[in-house]
Amino acid sequence: MSTPAATHAPGRTDADGVAARARGLTKAYGSGETTVLALDSVDVDIARGRFTAVMGPSGSGKSTLMHCLAGLDTVSAGQVWLGDTEITGLKERELTRLRRDRIGFMFQSFNLIPTLNAAENITLPMDIAGKKPDAEWLERVIETLGLRDRLKHRPSQLSGGQQQRVACARALASRPELIFADEPTGNLDSRAGLEVLGFLREAVDELGQTVVMVTHDPGAAAHSDLVLFLADGRIVDEMARPTADAVLERMKRFDTIRTPHGGGEGPSVGLGLNVPGPDGATAHPDGSGGKEKRTENRTPTEPSSAPSPDQD
Ligand SMILES: Nc1ncnc2c1ncn2[C@@H]1O[C@H](COP(=O)(O)OP(=O)(O)OP(=O)(O)O)[C@@H](O)[C@H]1O
Ligand SMILES: [Mg+2]
Repeated sequence: MSTPAATHAPGRTDADGVAARARGLTKAYGSGETTVLALDSVDVDIARGRFTAVMGPSGSGKSTLMHCLAGLDTVSAGQVWLGDTEITGLKERELTRLRRDRIGFMFQSFNLIPTLNAAENITLPMDIAGKKPDAEWLERVIETLGLRDRLKHRPSQLSGGQQQRVACARALASRPELIFADEPTGNLDSRAGLEVLGFLREAVDELGQTVVMVTHDPGAAAHSDLVLFLADGRIVDEMARPTADAVLERMKRFDTIRTPHGGGEGPSVGLGLNVPGPDGATAHPDGSGGKEKRTENRTPTEPSSAPSPDQD
């Protein structure tokens, strides 16, 4: 069985297996001379019950793609569906309900409420929705993320990594069918990072949830089923059954790209959790290496005339 976890081939019809879908997704910021095309007509299917990673240079549109797929940002053109529901064109109220009921989001910045303690932050989305948390599940989330003795602390009393774990617990607490995580391990030490990745992997394998994760770290990406590579607001490549080494090799090719709106990234890619999971090949039972499938619209790899040190 080798169902692709996602594809950017347009016109697929297996709606049942698709948790989120975009066609011609375009997002421009600003107008006139200063317009930034953050997403340039992206076609993507995010397969249900799979773990998809999104990688690419800083400024390539990763966060924007997640925000648009999650209905957190409006699109300039194109269409987005969550399951069978087209969300482009939904009224804000319907969109809010849909996000609340079906999506968990771990933001690049944690977005914790400073006046609430960790426990209150974790259950806030459910409290707002008037939903009762599944106590057993919540316990498991809190235990796994090592937050048991920090529940009464406010965000300002927590380290960056602890805040990230609270944000992670908040996204997982309601068992949403679709979890978007923007660099969830970016602020964690390697042990806590591996735990979060292990948890996301478990959410997919054992609970049938769908995870989309932005990361700069090949070791983190290796926990996914499929990596989508973004450059200049376009999906330029994908890799099924990724390994940290294969992802790192692919990312290196971005280092020499000088993009029209400055989306190049220096060689710092992958310095975070640059290690495979505890079982070596991580979650791929067949133990296969990263098989790379290149697409015809692959970014050209002409060398840059100058590095772009000012990213991030
Ligand atoms: N609110 C905004 N106004 C103007 N431009 C924006 C805005 N948000 C994002 N951009 C631009 O859109 C492009 C894509 O940004 P985005 O945040 O999606 O990148 P990213 O791939 O997530 O980068 P990073 O890895 O640094 O988080 C960038 O060029 C960015 O400067
Ligand atoms: Mg980002």
